Amino acid sequence: MKHVLETVYGHIYKCVNSLPKDFTVSDIACQSGWLGTHCLTQGFKFVNFIDARPESFKQPPSNFKNWDFVQMDISQYDLFRNQINDFDVLLYCGHLYHSEDPYQMLKTISETKCKHLIIESKTLDMNGIHLMAPPKIDYEIEPTHLSGLAYHPTKSELLIGRPNLNWTTKTLQELGFKIESYATGVLDNVSYSQPNKAFPHYFIHAVR
Ligand SMILES: C[S@@+](CC[C@H](N)C(=O)[O-])C[C@H]1O[C@@H](n2cnc3c(N)ncnc32)[C@H](O)[C@@H]1O
Repeated sequence: MKHVLETVYGHIYKCVNSLPKDFTVSDIACQSGWLGTHCLTQGFKFVNFIDARPESFKQPPSNFKNWDFVQMDISQYDLFRNQINDFDVLLYCGHLYHSEDPYQMLKTISETKCKHLIIESKTLDMNGIHLMAPPKIDYEIEPTHLSGLAYHPTKSELLIGRPNLNWTTKTLQELGFKIESYATGVLDNVSYSQPNKAFPHYFIHAVR
């Protein structure tokens, strides 16, 4: 089993670090802003942080002035598109599985001028928990576990998706992106409510 820190997050850092530093970045649904702050330390030109809840945001060190924070609901798609339209790099981590309309979210992102899109997400199964074999088994993520959409049981009538790697890569390609790289990994024992569950995560670097 490959841990998410070795794979998904390792790839995110590697990918971000390899991008030209004269790019501007928007860290969408940033929470604490750890990834955008990493971009500031890497020397990117400007970093925009977005989240609906400013209380979890940690301001970057005071020597950085080239950033701002915008509080907004990113499911207000027209406002969101305007906000992110001009950034070269969009970081969209830890939110796709929260999105009530993953397709509209990716479509909105595709309608901007972004050159690089970095997505991290996790996949939930039909029980809304995890898509994998029973926990405590030493498994790899098999491609067969990554096909199709999983739906939240209580909200399935609304077709609220928890998009997996296959769906997300296919949708991004349909929306005009090229998949530059991707990675998968498992994050386990992190949930207080489901302590023995493992959560399959994935990372995608899409370009155009
Ligand atoms: C799991 S955290 C991800 C944080 C960070 N990007 C990461 O990868 O570690 C999800 C974040 O999405 C934000 N969020 C959820 N729904 C949102 C919305 N409709 N508009 C803006 N932010 C939202 C939450 O406030 C939270 O900070």
